[in-house]
Amino acid sequence: MIKLAPRPVIISAIALSLFNSISTFAKINVIPKPNSISEKNGSFTVNADTKILTYTSILNSEAQYLASQLNRATGFDLKIATKSMDNTPTPKNSILLDNVALQSRSLKEQAYILDVSTEKIGITVASPQGAFYAIQSLLQLLPPEIESKSIIKNKKWTIPCVEITDAPRFDWRGLMLDVSRHFYTKEQVKTFIDQMARYKFNTFHWHLTDDQGWRIEIKKYPKLTEIGAFRVPRQGYWWTFDAPQPDEKATDGGFYTQEEIREIVDYAAKRHITIVPEIDVPGHSMAALAAYPQLSCGGGPFTVNPGSKFYGQIENTICPSNDFTYKFLDDVFAEIAELFPNSYIHIGGDEAHKGFWSKCPRCQQFKKDNNIKNEHELQSYFIKRMEKILASKGKKLIGWDEILEGGLAPNARVMSWRGTAGGIKAAKMGHEVVMTPSPYYYLDLYQGDPAAEPKTYNMARLTDTYNFEPVPDGIDAKLILGIQGNLWTEEISEFRHAQYMTWPRSLAIAESAWSQKEDKNWPDFVSRAENHFQRMDYGQIKYARSIYDPIFKTTKKDDQTIITLSTEIEGLTIHYTFEGADPDGFYPQYTKPLVVPKNAQDLKVVTCQNGKIIGKTITYPTVK
Ligand code: ACM
Ligand code: ZN
Repeated sequence: MIKLAPRPVIISAIALSLFNSISTFAKINVIPKPNSISEKNGSFTVNADTKILTYTSILNSEAQYLASQLNRATGFDLKIATKSMDNTPTPKNSILLDNVALQSRSLKEQAYILDVSTEKIGITVASPQGAFYAIQSLLQLLPPEIESKSIIKNKKWTIPCVEITDAPRFDWRGLMLDVSRHFYTKEQVKTFIDQMARYKFNTFHWHLTDDQGWRIEIKKYPKLTEIGAFRVPRQGYWWTFDAPQPDEKATDGGFYTQEEIREIVDYAAKRHITIVPEIDVPGHSMAALAAYPQLSCGGGPFTVNPGSKFYGQIENTICPSNDFTYKFLDDVFAEIAELFPNSYIHIGGDEAHKGFWSKCPRCQQFKKDNNIKNEHELQSYFIKRMEKILASKGKKLIGWDEILEGGLAPNARVMSWRGTAGGIKAAKMGHEVVMTPSPYYYLDLYQGDPAAEPKTYNMARLTDTYNFEPVPDGIDAKLILGIQGNLWTEEISEFRHAQYMTWPRSLAIAESAWSQKEDKNWPDFVSRAENHFQRMDYGQIKYARSIYDPIFKTTKKDDQTIITLSTEIEGLTIHYTFEGADPDGFYPQYTKPLVVPKNAQDLKVVTCQNGKIIGKTITYPTVK
């Protein structure tokens, strides 16, 4: 619930006008929307003398993070100091991180109270995590320039006076990055994690293996990265690429050494983000098969797939009836378990093509010997063994919703991606669920008309993502652990493009993950997101501006083609022409469906906000 403090009643008209001129509250642009915002008059200004105080060393890491975030753009050299726990008043011009005096309010682990007054800022928390989230809100109360990578001189670093009380709706607030289809460097992964942290995400699901690359060093099986981490180079539209040619060198790829993995785990932990590694088995395993063909039913040889069509034709599924498979996975998960402190490990389990199992004499014998009726049950047998392997390393299993097929492993968590059906089924069986339904939370989908976007498949506009409610009716809400956006990277070879697909849809996911359902409000979210566009500009993060582009719909009536335009957000005008030039705000304004003139060239449109061009110039075919 947003609780705005009532404005004081002002008696005289003069006082009223004076009050209005000086007390208009600054807009609070925090994303995700806090549970309670109580606005007050005035502001706090951060300057070179501002002190960051803690009572104990417990919050040192968060205090250091705050100082570094403030110092980067301001050019100050703010230092951390310890305040004694006697009753001396908090000095003026200070930011106090307080995990001691909970002011008799009991706070949950991730909750915080952020109290900004003209003379000091108080952050009251029960944990370092709460402090970190308070700091994110505090940074978002500063002007967007605070995100600048270089020093901005002569800027007044004001923070509006406000009291925010806040806590998350869900415990699992995740984003997934697929580093197999395209490899991203350690520094790029850190940038991704850094940006997640700004929006109070706490789970980074790292899709480390797939048909197109094995990305994590496993000491016991060096060929996984020597061979499995590289493929022949291809550029263009995925699934159309030529297969590897004889003698062609596999030069495209990369992997993370175990040392680098530890560095990233530590980097994420400092940002209160836990990493859930995914080793995708038994399907999506061609890179592993290329390295160790004895994992397969047919024996190979295999090459790492470069993004060419193979499904059902070339094996990419591990043989579940093979002793080596279980020895290999026991060894691999032993190293994974050692590297990642999180209690859950993702074993994939999705889209395993079982056709090669049906043709494998060993699999057929194995089914008979173990009274396994069909290939779904064989997959279920495999997943249950994965659960046992993980349990032997003190870890628990999470997998994609296909792990329900043929019977769910007893303690498994389910990640529901094929809509919500798998999640609903798992929750009804008492299992914990993370909702990541593809029509809403897949970040590789179009976010605007294909005429204006990089080529991909299906559509998830920002409105679709924002408006989705992740707890289905009739389900015990406690079993819905949370939500996650997934960035698959088949079509995304550039890290800037990965950012473009992630933001702003992940702002919407962050808000659904953290904010209370009843506090969500689309127009209010959009106006805050626009402020974050400025922050991302200063922070050199790429994001999609697709909400500024029109939605096109073509219909036919008799022999006429009619194009209907609309916009996802309020306050835009659309300008158009059929005569080939790029329109601007002086071109005809769209007011009603357009009948395409006979022999017309393609439709060209652009949107304006407050009379200024804001959208892309889009060429939309009149013949579809
Ligand atoms: C998936 O998209 N195959 C989980
Ligand atoms: Zn087999």
